[in-house]
Parts: sequence; C-alpha cells; structure tokens
Amino acid sequence: MAKQKKSVFVCQGCGYQAPKWLGRCPDCNEWNTLVEEFASTRTERKQGSGGSPPAAIPGISLDREQRLKTGLGEFDRTLGGGLVPGSLVLIGGDPGIGKSTLVLQAMDRLASQGLDALYLSGEESPQQIRLRAERLSARSENLYVMAETCLEDVLEAVERMKPRVLAVDSIQTVYTEAMASAPGSVGQVREVASRLMGVAKTTGLAIFLVGHVTKDGSIAGPRVLEHLVDTVLYFEGDRGHLFRILRAVKNRFGSTNEIGVFEMKETGLGEVANPSRIFLEERPEGVSGSVVIPCLEGTRPLLVEIQALVTSSPLGMPRRTAVGVDHNRIALLVAVLAKRMGMELGDQDIFVNVAGGLRVEEPAADLGVISAMMSSFLDRPVPRDVVLFGEVGLAGEIRGVGQPELRMKEARKLGFSHCILSESNLEATRIPAGMKATGVASIQGLFETLFR
Ligand code: TYD
Ligand code: MG
Repeated sequence: MAKQKKSVFVCQGCGYQAPKWLGRCPDCNEWNTLVEEFASTRTERKQGSGGSPPAAIPGISLDREQRLKTGLGEFDRTLGGGLVPGSLVLIGGDPGIGKSTLVLQAMDRLASQGLDALYLSGEESPQQIRLRAERLSARSENLYVMAETCLEDVLEAVERMKPRVLAVDSIQTVYTEAMASAPGSVGQVREVASRLMGVAKTTGLAIFLVGHVTKDGSIAGPRVLEHLVDTVLYFEGDRGHLFRILRAVKNRFGSTNEIGVFEMKETGLGEVANPSRIFLEERPEGVSGSVVIPCLEGTRPLLVEIQALVTSSPLGMPRRTAVGVDHNRIALLVAVLAKRMGMELGDQDIFVNVAGGLRVEEPAADLGVISAMMSSFLDRPVPRDVVLFGEVGLAGEIRGVGQPELRMKEARKLGFSHCILSESNLEATRIPAGMKATGVASIQGLFETLFR
C-alpha cells in the first residue's frame, strides 16, 4: 500500500517539482536543492475526515501531561521537568559525543519504573548494545532492544509491543520503503520523522530521535527536523573535555536554553550537580586575561571563566579565534574598544575561550569578554574576587541584563565578593549580603573600576 504512494522531487528553494532527482533545479538553477517528497500530501489532507472538532480549552483533558521522569535530574530539567507522553524529542550532536549513551541510560531509568521501553538501533547489533548496557549497568527487564532500519518493520513491532517510550538511534539510518532515496537523505529523514510523529500523537508514545550533526550535506542533519519535533536538544562539549552539555534549543513543553551538565565516566554519564564549581576549579591564579561571569543558561545561573589572549601578531592579517563565544560578538567588541577607548587591537592576534568547553550565547557575557581582552592586552590581572555581567552597546555603553539578583547570588555562593554590572541593573537590584556592587555606565567606567 505505502509503496503505491507517488513521490516527487521538490526544489527546496523555489518549489519546482520533477519526477526524478536532478542535481540542479531547472527553474531557479540552484544546485542540490531537490528533495524527495510525497506528491499527495496536500490533496490527501483536503479529503481527510475533518479530524477532531474544536474543543473549549477548559474542557480539554490534561491526562497526557503527566510527565515521565527519567530520574536523571539534569536530563529531566532540560526536558522541562520530564518527558511528555506523545512527544517527539530530537537529540542532536556530533558523532561520538555520547548521544547513544545518554539515551540508553535514560531509557533504562524509565524502564526500571515499569514502563516498557524499546531502544531501536540502526547502528549497533543487539550484542553491542548489551555490551554498552553492561558498562552502564542498564539491566532493566522492561528495556527492549531491536536492531532494525526499515520503518515499516519498526512500526509493526511498535504496534505489537505497545511500548511507552521508543528511541530511534539514529534517525539517519532508518528508511521507509515508500521512498526511493537513500537512508539519511533529507526526504527520508523527514518522512520517517513525520510518520513517527503521527504515531506519537495518536498513541501517546514518547519518542527520542537521535540525529548526528553532519558536516557533509549528503546526509541530512538534525536541523531539517527542528520545525517538526516538539523538543530539540543538542548534546555538545568537545571530546577533549569530560563535560557534556545538553542544551534545549526548542521546547514546546518547557523553557529553551535550559541546560543539563554531565560528565562522561567509565560507567556512562554522571550528573554534575554543581557545575559552577567545576567550571572554575582549574582557574589560574593572578594571570591576566581571565575573568568570571555569572551567565544564565535557561533558569539556572552558571559561573564560567572567560579567557582571552591578546598578543601582537606576526601576521599581516591577525588571527581572531573564538571558542565558546560568537565570532561576530568579538569583532564588535574589538571595534568598540578601538573607537570608544582608543585601544587599538588591529595588529593583535586575539584568542577568546570559554573554559570547560561551554558555549555562552547571551549578550550578558559581553562585559566579561571585553574585560578579559583588556586585561590580557594590558597584562593586568582582574582581581580574583570579581565577577561581571552586562551587555556592551556600540556606543560603548553598558546595558542591563535579565535576572541580576540571581546571578549575584550564585556568585556570592561561590565566594565572589565584588560584582561589576550596569548602572541600570544596580539601581533595580537588591545586593546580596557580603557582596559589593559597582555600577558602570560605559566601558571607560569599566576600565577605571578594573584597572585604576
Ligand atoms: P556514544 O554514546 O556512542 O556516542 P554517539 O552515540 O553520540 O555517537 O559515546 C561515545 C563515546 O563515549 C565513546 O568514545 C566512548 C565513551 N564512553 C565512555 O567514556 N563511557 C561509557 O560508559 C560509554 C558507554 C561510552
Ligand atoms: Mg551512537
């Protein structure tokens, strides 16, 4: 039946349709934009049964909202307080970062509460999975494993077994017979995910989809699924570090930017309950270019060290390297330093790094980055008990950011006693006991406070 559905290749740029794959769209002349899709989806929907009638909001039952807790606190928090039945959760990340480990651990925890869990692997044999499970001490009797890549067979197994949770590792290895294109292609990945979505929504089955982030365009990355699924989590951290960060970038059932911090151990992923302490553990003493900022990831404040190394460059085109912070932000801050402070870094190599492999996205980190660069350039350390946060504007002004009190409390908890923040934040905030707070209005003010 499914095989008779007709597929067409649709240009993702202009919508041109062709009966077979073409390397270049004849209409808009873009390369590699044709993706296999079903021709019938739209007309089919029109002829549909009309679906469910509109319902008044108070009359809608909340039964399905009972969240399933994995018991891995960091994971549950990132999900927004547990796994919602009937939801589709995408877990993306580089190969080898620990996605399979995380999902298997979470599935085992769920299964040990008596929920039937099915772990589907298209990459490993049941023996290999068993070996991994041994390392993780995952021995729950309700955890089932299946090595399969054909979607139709998977759906049959799901139908028969009726699990409460399903994990598909990875979405790129599963294919539907109804499409001609190779497993992992954009068309396949989308179709498989949307069929699974249909199952999740109609039966209340919660599904984890694992997706590898790929550099090469021939295999579709998790990005092509982001709009479709309910929750998108990215698992990141560089392999040189033991820390892994699980970050929610989309969540229909919770706040985004929530993060969970894990540590990769011999026996799998362990939760890190107090990440601030760990991120600061190896902070060097009395060295220029190192500052600490309390950043806010989701609902939790986190202290991280930002390091900068500014050194005169032997190259005609000096290097700008940023790890964990946005390149463009660095360029902007360098320009602000030149224009508003007369501090010319044009002939300097600049390296900025967030220690511990964390990535900081919020503008509140500006004040930290700019202070670290000034400190390194002048070779004058920032006092050890100082934390700072605030956004830097193009005029060199320092702007307020959200949740200043929460940030200061976290800093105080870890022993910091002096906080530098924007004047607007200072006026509106209660300062925690034991904390001295200095408001600055501009980067000149920041310079005076730090180095005079
Ligand atoms: P894996 O979950 O297979 O990564 P992914 O599914 O994202 O490709 O994990 C890969 C790495 O994790 C592997 O290099 C070994 C390491 N690892 C541990 O350090 N401890 C463990 O208990 C396990 C299972 C894996
Ligand atoms: Mg894997």
